[in-house]
Amino acid sequence: MKNKLLKMVAVAMVACVGFSIASCGKKEKGLTINEGKLIMATNAAFAPYEYYDGDTIVGIDAEIAAEVASRLNLELEIQDVAFDSIIAGVQSGKYDIGCAGMTITDERLQSVNFTTPYATGIQSIIVKEGSEITDIDTLIDGDYIVGVQQGTTGDLYMSDDIGDDRIDRYNNGADAILALNNGNVDAVVIDNQPALALVEANEGLIILETPYTEEEYAMAVNKDNTELLNEINRVLAEMESDGTIDAIIEKYIPSEG
Ligand code: ARG
Repeated sequence: MKNKLLKMVAVAMVACVGFSIASCGKKEKGLTINEGKLIMATNAAFAPYEYYDGDTIVGIDAEIAAEVASRLNLELEIQDVAFDSIIAGVQSGKYDIGCAGMTITDERLQSVNFTTPYATGIQSIIVKEGSEITDIDTLIDGDYIVGVQQGTTGDLYMSDDIGDDRIDRYNNGADAILALNNGNVDAVVIDNQPALALVEANEGLIILETPYTEEEYAMAVNKDNTELLNEINRVLAEMESDGTIDAIIEKYIPSEG
């Protein structure tokens, strides 16, 4: 009798331990995919937000994310992937965050959450000096071909305005610029800061403005991971008020005067 009871207690205890280990794995699932690490997906051909300095990815996003990671006691790991694969990768749990000068859009909000914005951008038109294209209307009204980076807001807006047939989609802005230089496209539509960097690096190109309004850049986070979203928002607010974000942006985009 005594023995039997003991046995039952033992069985119950084993079951309990087993159960708590199982629920442990589930419930105490860490803040990030790999404990201690913050895996960031970006597309590192988007200066000054993310680009290569030798083998290292640097830029505003890289530095802001590194600081966020450090304040959360996480080690940042940056993965350079195709821009239009970032949202899907965050959604499927491949990456903790997408941080790529990424504009908050209603469509993307269906798939991921966005942190509070930390920067802004505006779409620009790049053309060759002396081009007949002088503004968005001449661009839209002619039969011009426009180069964009696949899956970006420039791609979305231009597709809406001129239709698929007149859009050539490239893996990154630099490839679109190459096509512009080669005469394969007549204009490139891309965010203003990368546009400046591209025009600086390529002679004979100029920037026109578009009427598209200002966009807000934020980090994409998996919809199920509101804990990480909240933690990132908490440190972003800290970094906003202690001047860290301004300092990082100023380092890459020095304000004049
Ligand atoms: N802001 C634009 C968008 O969200 C372009 C971002 C491209 N970023 C990049 N790292 N290539 O669609």
